[in-house]
Amino acid sequence: MFMQIQHRRLPAAIGVAGVFLAATGFAQTTLKDAFKNDFLVGVAINQKQISGEDRRGDPIIKTQFNSISPENVLKWDSVHPQPDQYNFTNADKYVAFGESNHMYIVGHTLIWHSQTPRWVFRDANGKDLTREALLERMRDHIHAVVGRYQGRIQCWDVVNEALAEDGTLRKSAWLRIIGEDYIAKAFQYAHEADPNAVLRYNDYSLEDEPKRKGAIALIKKLKAEGVPVTAIGLQDHAKLDWPTAEQEDATITDLAGLGLKVMITELDVDTARATQQNRSADINLNGQGGSNSPAAAPSAGMNQNTNRSSDSVEQLLAKRYVDLFGVFVKHRDVVSLVTFWGVTDGDSWLNWGRVNHPLLFDRDGRPKPAFDAVIQTAKSP
Ligand code: GLA
Repeated sequence: MFMQIQHRRLPAAIGVAGVFLAATGFAQTTLKDAFKNDFLVGVAINQKQISGEDRRGDPIIKTQFNSISPENVLKWDSVHPQPDQYNFTNADKYVAFGESNHMYIVGHTLIWHSQTPRWVFRDANGKDLTREALLERMRDHIHAVVGRYQGRIQCWDVVNEALAEDGTLRKSAWLRIIGEDYIAKAFQYAHEADPNAVLRYNDYSLEDEPKRKGAIALIKKLKAEGVPVTAIGLQDHAKLDWPTAEQEDATITDLAGLGLKVMITELDVDTARATQQNRSADINLNGQGGSNSPAAAPSAGMNQNTNRSSDSVEQLLAKRYVDLFGVFVKHRDVVSLVTFWGVTDGDSWLNWGRVNHPLLFDRDGRPKPAFDAVIQTAKSP
């Protein structure tokens, strides 16, 4: 049952040795401690946080979380911007950040339709590559990136978002040029490059029936062919009213039935009413134009409630997180990781075009009512 949770107006938090301390002397359990017998709690981090320049975000990351995902620095366009040019500077710092903080390090993402340069699919004359040439390019990329961090990045999103909303394969350039087995090949190459890494298929809206059915059929086919897929990522870019706890429960049950680890990989809850109708996390549908760059500045007039959300929105958000975490905790035997997509509200990709409040920490780094609410769902504080 959801109870009213008072927003304690805490000063910006300071993390010390596993305890979350505010300047008031108030101490409470951290996320990673609260769920230590259930699953890891991760967070996607940006370049400033990786470089230690975010004085508000970095202490929260180190204190609250025991896993990290890279928001952008391991995507193809960041790490391999030109045919013969890899740029590992930020990715190296990302991995070093995780190691120095003893974290479970996720690699995101190898094969995706977005944030992948156009040259990847073209020959010197600007024409589509042949199937064989694109497979070779895919293999080289995966071997270079996964190979560089072999034994250091524990888990890779090998293929991201290969399915369309109706559960059929998305009509990407990967599918057009290589054919359906591009997914199997990507997993095979990743496994060659690091045989011990957990290899994940990652997608959004798997809570919706048609897409979930498509994912289940896809994973069954891959497993029947002996493809080394070992985990499935539910992105969980949620809305205030989607997915329902029942949908989430059914989805995790169905996916666990495939014998894979289930991970919640990109959790946030969109609080902007204007976007509640758009169920999709498809970056081409949500106004970002696929750029996926750090959050665009909110346009004036779109939301006058600029820096703080109302108490009622924060209560709704807390309830949403309670419902979702109730399901994750129920399935803690198969859910091994729950990752938030961003540290504070100000860091979130959901700020495109308007201000959003989707996470557990506000723009000043203070824990919100949803933070307390989530902690209270833990069975093993
Ligand atoms: C997708 C990707 C993430 C991120 C989000 C939002 O879910 O998997 O890397 O880009 O979109 O930006």
